[in-house]
Amino acid sequence: MRLTGVIAIDGPAASGKTAVGRILAQRLRHKFLDTGSMYRATTWMALKKGVDLTSEEELSRLVRELKMEIISVPGDGERLLVNGEDVTGRLRDTQVEKWVSPVSKVLGVRRALIKEQRRLARREKMVMAGRDIGTVVFPKAQFKIFLMASPEERARRRYLELENLGHPVSYAAVLEELNRRDRMDTERRYSPLKPATDAHVLDTEGFTIEEVVDRIMAFIEGR
Ligand code: DC
Repeated sequence: MRLTGVIAIDGPAASGKTAVGRILAQRLRHKFLDTGSMYRATTWMALKKGVDLTSEEELSRLVRELKMEIISVPGDGERLLVNGEDVTGRLRDTQVEKWVSPVSKVLGVRRALIKEQRRLARREKMVMAGRDIGTVVFPKAQFKIFLMASPEERARRRYLELENLGHPVSYAAVLEELNRRDRMDTERRYSPLKPATDAHVLDTEGFTIEEVVDRIMAFIEGR
């Protein structure tokens, strides 16, 4: 079997994929791509352009017009540019949070973004985080990790993250939103959220980000 240079990190919302993936990529000197940001950016552009978010046709047309670029800014992580516009600061907006799961259900949206994800990984070794990286985008990825934690623990993490960003939210609202998104992502027809059969499943509850990265490194080095 021909393996790819991609390390896939999948898991539900706020399971730590991005924080863990970013540090893992630094340690391995790989690039990092958070594919959730691509679905969020598509949602943000649809909201901004007044696209009908319930129309599969309009969303599929829009996504084909979007050119995404990820640039690394020293000291400021990665920035996502869509058609030249830096949309990074909008990706956690309440409206984006509300609509991103319905938008990412649309086959035309998924096809376009998956094509882009595969193109980006052709050029360099990459740690890629998402929902379907190990199952659909790179089923032959060399390493597949699936991160888990209870909904309550994940809601607590997301609540603290949003609070730090200055978004006024309640813990109960965050938990409800997270459960709603998990349900939609798991029950959708294309690329539903689930571990690949050959994924290494890690329960992150009670572990710090660094400890999770250490466990993944041990898994990779032990192979
Ligand atoms: O990881 P996140 O919470 O930023 O992802 C936002 C949404 O994007 C998530 O609810 C489902 C969708 N998504 C997806 O369908 N496939 C991916 N590979 C990544 C994210």
